[in-house]
Amino acid sequence: MSGRCFFGVNGLDQIIPEGMEYGTQILVSGDTGIGKTVLAGQFLLEGLLCGDTCIYVACDESPSVMRRHLRDYKVGVQAYENAGRLILVDAYEEGESKEKYFIANQYSLEKYAVMERLLLQRFPGRRLRLVVDSLSTLLIPFTQEEILEFHRNRLKYLRKNGVLTMDIMVDGVLDQRLMTIAGHLYNVTVRMKFGGSEGRPDRMIQVGKVKSGKFDAVPRRFGISPVFGIIIYAADMEV
Ligand SMILES: Nc1ncnc2c1ncn2[C@@H]1O[C@H](COP(=O)(O)OP(=O)(O)OP(=O)(O)O)[C@@H](O)[C@H]1O
Ligand SMILES: [Mg+2]
Repeated sequence: MSGRCFFGVNGLDQIIPEGMEYGTQILVSGDTGIGKTVLAGQFLLEGLLCGDTCIYVACDESPSVMRRHLRDYKVGVQAYENAGRLILVDAYEEGESKEKYFIANQYSLEKYAVMERLLLQRFPGRRLRLVVDSLSTLLIPFTQEEILEFHRNRLKYLRKNGVLTMDIMVDGVLDQRLMTIAGHLYNVTVRMKFGGSEGRPDRMIQVGKVKSGKFDAVPRRFGISPVFGIIIYAADMEV
């Protein structure tokens, strides 16, 4: 697939001025409550606006939370869902899901991989943007070997098929060593962390590892607005 793609976040996209290729795999990792799901929402919005078919796998909360986020951004969610351009997958509900798309029993990685592939194969010839929020939740019950095996095969498949992928991982859920090894399998990494002092915490975001591309690895401070989502502050801006 040709063309370049972006996060859809002002300030973050300027860090990678040339954008990314379809088939790029992005690892977003960070503290809980830092804004990973907010970033995912903007990434999906960007996808909808540029014509991608967007798939969001909700593992940590019901897909309706993302529906609400997107509505806050004035996205006509229902119309996109009806048109098959926005696919919200319920991988959260353990019992019966009311959603059109769901992945029941996500306690088998193999089964998850098969379900994900089948879903992607429903949209041949389309530019696909996939977000799994959060992948770390799916991986919890498995051994390091199982996780790495799953990871390698899955990412290889996604790359080969040109799927722009954003995998979200919550810090502290998986073993740090495993996170480091898994992190090497991605083309782009985005770290989101709380910094600053206790009385005055800052949100920080940092891009790493853009293969063969120019990018700026300096950590940036950011805030979250209900209207615009993530706002990256200028490097010299006092907040
Ligand atoms: N639409 C929104 N507008 C403004 N603030 C929001 C919005 N959605 C979430 N927030 C706030 O942004 C912060 C980050 O939320 P978010 O859900 O993205 O965190 P997260 O990194 O996904 O956390 P977790 O690991 O628990 O899933 C929270 O403090 C939340 O209250
Ligand atoms: Mg989240």
